Amino acid sequence: MQAVIVYESVYDNTRRIAEAIAAGIHEASPDAQVSCLPVAEATSDATRSADLLVVGGPTHMHGMSSGLSRRLAHGTQERRTARKTEDPAAGAGPDGSPGLRAWFHGLPDTASGTHAAAFDTRADFRMSGGAAYGIARRLARHHYDVLAEPEGFIVEEAEGPLRAGELDRARTWGAALV
Ligand SMILES: Cc1cc2nc3c(=O)[nH]c(=O)nc-3n(C[C@H](O)[C@H](O)[C@H](O)COP(=O)(O)O)c2cc1C
Repeated sequence: MQAVIVYESVYDNTRRIAEAIAAGIHEASPDAQVSCLPVAEATSDATRSADLLVVGGPTHMHGMSSGLSRRLAHGTQERRTARKTEDPAAGAGPDGSPGLRAWFHGLPDTASGTHAAAFDTRADFRMSGGAAYGIARRLARHHYDVLAEPEGFIVEEAEGPLRAGELDRARTWGAALV
């Protein structure tokens, strides 16, 4: 079995969840080939051979990230880096990383009804929404067979940390997909 996990992450929390999901899949299916790729590296060659495609990203403005929300998120991070280093230019520069929305535009349809699942990271507040719903809809539109309910993993603040226990929950969720 070949499993590919594709993630978008600004502050690293979704990357950590993606890695935990990969570990869970590997534990449940030790012979599986599991790769965990940031969205910028997830070419159609990388996803074409997957038997299981898992896609996740941060929740921004109740749903999937957009150009605007990524600029806002990166702006916060850059201001923080600049303050830390006392160099106003530090951390500046264009963010070349694509978001999941653009990535889905380039994702070829799967002919075979390949299995798939969607996850996100989100804050724990009323009406927080979740990116995973939009991700699951896009997977289904590309004819993926979405196996599980979209799942959200909780961050305590926008930049993290992840809530205690969420990495273990992600491992278990990943294992259950196999
Ligand atoms: C611009 C922006 C908008 C956000 N909007 C929401 C939101 O509507 N709902 C929510 O639960 N979290 C929201 N968050 C918090 C993100 O979910 C959190 O930053 C993300 O899960 C962290 O993942 P990452 O470390 O992989 O970037 C927002 C964060 C940013 C930067």
